[in-house]
Amino acid sequence: MALHVAVIGSGPAGIYTAEALVKQSAEPVEVDVIERLPTPYGLVRYGVAPDHTSIKSIANYLRRVLELPQVRFLGGVTLGSDLSVDDLLGAYDAVVYCTGAMVDRRLGIPGEDLPGSVAATDFVNWYCGHPDVDPARFTLDTSEVAVIGVGNVAVDVVRVLAKTADELRATDVPHEVLERLEASQVKAIHMIGRRGPEHAKFTLKELRELGELANADVCVRPEEAVVLGGDFPRQIQGNITILQSWAGRGAVGRPRRLDVRFWLRPVEILGTERVEGLKLERTRLSEEGRVVGTGEFETLPVGMVLRSVGYQSVPLPGVPFSERTMTVPNEAGRVREREYVAGWLKRGPTGVIGTNKSDAAETVRTLLSDLEGKAPGAGTGHGAIDALLASRSVRPVTYEEWQAIEAAEGELAKSLSRGERVKLVGLEAMLRACRP
Ligand SMILES: Cc1cc2nc3c(=O)[nH]c(=O)nc-3n(C[C@H](O)[C@H](O)[C@H](O)COP(=O)(O)OP(=O)(O)OC[C@H]3O[C@@H](n4cnc5c(N)ncnc54)[C@H](O)[C@@H]3O)c2cc1C
Ligand SMILES: NC(=O)c1ccc[n+]([C@@H]2O[C@H](COP(=O)([O-])OP(=O)(O)OC[C@H]3O[C@@H](n4cnc5c(N)ncnc54)[C@H](OP(=O)(O)O)[C@@H]3O)[C@@H](O)[C@H]2O)c1
Repeated sequence: MALHVAVIGSGPAGIYTAEALVKQSAEPVEVDVIERLPTPYGLVRYGVAPDHTSIKSIANYLRRVLELPQVRFLGGVTLGSDLSVDDLLGAYDAVVYCTGAMVDRRLGIPGEDLPGSVAATDFVNWYCGHPDVDPARFTLDTSEVAVIGVGNVAVDVVRVLAKTADELRATDVPHEVLERLEASQVKAIHMIGRRGPEHAKFTLKELRELGELANADVCVRPEEAVVLGGDFPRQIQGNITILQSWAGRGAVGRPRRLDVRFWLRPVEILGTERVEGLKLERTRLSEEGRVVGTGEFETLPVGMVLRSVGYQSVPLPGVPFSERTMTVPNEAGRVREREYVAGWLKRGPTGVIGTNKSDAAETVRTLLSDLEGKAPGAGTGHGAIDALLASRSVRPVTYEEWQAIEAAEGELAKSLSRGERVKLVGLEAMLRACRP
């Protein structure tokens, strides 16, 4: 009899877990990949920037896993509302939680909830066409925007704000979003780091891309690009060299301007009805290496503040969760008997897509060493879970139905004379496309 495993979440961690189960198990294995959206691939579809088409093509690798005969995709099924942990443990031999990190970290400063103060998670979801965010959610009707944070997500957000709609026309950005980007009034973008260039989290390749923007001048203040000490790792030295080469370089009259700023921390988002400014305090490092304020302030006259200070996982009902690390406590992926975790939910919201492959492999090694050789227990196969879902009137989106959604996105792109695909927005439109 086969080992039956449920993988919850179809992002990179979930799909690499399914692949590792099939490849590593000495016994036959059947894997159900259960996903709350009708579409697979998690942040590869709804996170990776639309103009990073080569990275997005990792989906071609992930799709081959979903097409393995031992793997089934069940879209539109949510752990928590459609199924409980007990339901899963009653139907499978083991469960692997791979639900990622879906919400933003908070800044904890006054004004954070004013209209116009936006979490990068929401903005990214918007331009990626995530069904949780209405395409009418954002109107870029302000001339100055601040992006807080100097990680790779901040760089993505800055690029999308700085590029013209024409530069994004061949991507999969939803058409309603492209129209809003076309009408953008944004002229100045300020990207704010609370520490120095040597502490920035963005990677060299991503930083370099900012210097290649055709529609925006990139400026750095010489005094903020100064770095004390030396002997930095290659990536960091590369960042410093690029930033210093931009320092003092004047604007050459491109329509938009990006100011990359350092040693400034946000202390208050100003405004009454909506964002009217951002108050920043100059910082330095204390002797213990902590960021501390110097008492010197400056205010930027921005109408929008994008907070890109990291993602955060949310607890799953019935699954242990540490409020300290905001992850599921585990030992090499083991949570409790027959329960496992992989990906961002296991180790926190850092690391590129590939990091999840070795991470998933570790979890699967633990799972198989716990279960292999033992007669499969609870796992009753597809029948039990299918019957349970049917009894709750939940009809999972199948892999074939997902392919119909993909085909409709290709058709839409063709009809609009845009690239290979244009995202369908909203659950209704997706379900109409696959269940005409
Ligand atoms: C904006 C952004 C851009 C990025 N760009 C890049 C890049 O260009 N290159 C790169 O290498 N890395 C990039 N990364 C990092 C990469 O996306 C992550 O390393 C990776 O996606 C984490 O995988 P995961 O499977 O743990 O989480 P996710 O990809 O988030 O997948 C989690 C899945 O679980 C599903 N889910 C959540 N809750 C439930 C539930 N209750 N029931 C069922 N399903 C559920 C979600 O819908 C989702 O599909 C980016 C990250 C972000 C945030
Ligand atoms: N192209 C790609 O490969 C790509 C694209 C996107 C994302 N990713 C990956 O996805 C992961 C998540 O990226 P991310 O950008 O969300 O997170 P991140 O790399 O952790 O960057 C978060 C940024 O926010 C800053 N920050 C945190 N709290 C702050 C506060 N209270 N006030 C001001 N600034 C604050 C951090 O500064 P401190 O350092 O001072 O804390 C840091 O600059 C990363 O591993 C990233 O590499 C990769």
